[in-house]
Amino acid sequence: MQEQAGSQNFIAAVLSKKQLVKANLEKVKHKIGVYSAKGGTGKTTIAINLAYALKELGYKVGLLDADIDTPNVTLFLGINQRADGAYPLKPVEKDGVKVISSSLFMDDSKKPIIWRGPLIAKLVEDFMQNTAWGELDYLVIDLPPGTSDSPLSIMQLLDMDGFVLVTTPQHIAALNTIRSGLMIKRLNVAVLGVIENMSTADNTGGGKEVAEALNTELLGTIPYNEKFNKFSDSGKVPVEEDNDIREEFIRIASKLKDMLH
Ligand SMILES: Nc1ncnc2c1ncn2[C@@H]1O[C@H](COP(=O)(O)OP(=O)(O)O)[C@@H](O)[C@H]1O
Ligand SMILES: [Mg+2]
Repeated sequence: MQEQAGSQNFIAAVLSKKQLVKANLEKVKHKIGVYSAKGGTGKTTIAINLAYALKELGYKVGLLDADIDTPNVTLFLGINQRADGAYPLKPVEKDGVKVISSSLFMDDSKKPIIWRGPLIAKLVEDFMQNTAWGELDYLVIDLPPGTSDSPLSIMQLLDMDGFVLVTTPQHIAALNTIRSGLMIKRLNVAVLGVIENMSTADNTGGGKEVAEALNTELLGTIPYNEKFNKFSDSGKVPVEEDNDIREEFIRIASKLKDMLH
């Protein structure tokens, strides 16, 4: 009896949080998560460049860094500002893209903060419930890898258009990505497509494998290119600096736009 009351309370709590998130994001038309099973596949890179490509297509775009442990979005964008922490939370704007990240609230981005799982989920909830985005056409969400509290709470609370999966070309990476995709589908969230990142002439195919297994679209293939590191290390966005990279991301952004309009 007590157990049943407990689980009902839990469901009620999730539902009311969902309402709060929904109310806060009323003026945000589309929400796209960028996700992969592993770290280092290029989620943050893809999330940022996708956000900038959508901006180039003329949309109002926000970028939510849901990776609380390794909040890299502001590092990649060379944002040194700090937010004041007053509510509602105000995103920082860079090149017309609005950004919220846990790093904006830390005194020193080099200092490690050891967050416990429940706190991470709370912080992500806080971002979803209390960020003053204003009107947005697209909110792009950069997720941490795997199935920790943060991706799960986003999948539970946010009414998403769906996820873009990022895989590297290798067969094992593809298998892990397929497993992530199946988990997302089980939670009744859509998989919008897959991007193969870091492809080379003799190492490609993971993206196609994932797309076929999940019956979804291969949105694009991004070659391995040292320029990504060079640009991000100096706070520059590849889409704004390199024509080939720009064209590939504009193609991907256009496909998503056509899918979601
Ligand atoms: N296509 C690419 N070619 C070369 N380096 C890349 C490419 N995509 C990402 N990187 C680099 O790989 C590293 C990991 O990328 P990141 O976006 O942080 O991955 P994740 O968010 O999945 O952990 C970064 O140093 C980034 O600059
Ligand atoms: Mg990342």
